[in-house]
Amino acid sequence: MIIETQQDVTAAVLGEMFRTPDPRTKEILSCFVKHLHAFVRETKLTEKEFQDAIGYVNAIGQRTTPSHNEAMLLSGALGVSNLVCLMNNGAKGTRPTQANNLGPFYRAGAPHLENGASLLRSPTPGPELFFRGFVKTAENEPVAGAEIDVWHSSTVGLYENQDKTQAEMNLRGCFTTLADGSFSFTSVKPAGYPVPTDGPAGALLRAQKRHNMRPAHLHFLIYKPGYKTIASQVYVQDDPYLETDSQFGVTKALIGDYRKDGDACALEFTFVIQPGEARRPRPPISAKATA
Ligand SMILES: [Fe+2]
Repeated sequence: MIIETQQDVTAAVLGEMFRTPDPRTKEILSCFVKHLHAFVRETKLTEKEFQDAIGYVNAIGQRTTPSHNEAMLLSGALGVSNLVCLMNNGAKGTRPTQANNLGPFYRAGAPHLENGASLLRSPTPGPELFFRGFVKTAENEPVAGAEIDVWHSSTVGLYENQDKTQAEMNLRGCFTTLADGSFSFTSVKPAGYPVPTDGPAGALLRAQKRHNMRPAHLHFLIYKPGYKTIASQVYVQDDPYLETDSQFGVTKALIGDYRKDGDACALEFTFVIQPGEARRPRPPISAKATA
């Protein structure tokens, strides 16, 4: 159609949707265009703001490298990651779930370890952590033979992919659950950490005067054929940033009971998984930082 005024633009774009052969693609694109145009109208977006927005979106890609995923960091900072997670788990968002954001720091290929092994591959200071987890069904049946990827940041707040002083795959490991559904490892107690602020996600936080901290947590990815694969995070119960997590990941179901045991710390946690499609997510990063 020939456009006469601004009111015609949305109809013109939606009018071209009929060519889209895939119905889901058509549904998503139509909805996206409607909401995007409504957003532009509601905010009365200026030309200067539009140019700034184009620069912002381009910078998301420019900032992304094999060892850093800015789009995933920004999705967390906007609450979209956890919204998608909670809508797609816990009986389609109607019940609490142990599923949580994958986060931007999952790497595939962590070494397979025996239960009880340490995640440390280079000297890492911090209180020792003894972890024991259980994987069960909603009917409380143990799930044996599930593969569990575990990863977390060092006590200075950096994942090994961000920190060339840590050994390759430090604080990462993959375990297999035993007949009783349990798996276990030792490590150091996780500490809270700041997310990177040198890209567009940082600019967003500064514009809102938000801090960039994440409460301390361990990451898990639970994979077993026949069950829906879930990512999870288990947070430290007395962390000062639980209520203002810069990635909006904390849910009630994922606050752990980290118990002091002398100078060390012990945590037990049960993950419930449900029948469904087992599919490992695409790793958001593929390499360790070299600079
Ligand atoms: Fe994390």
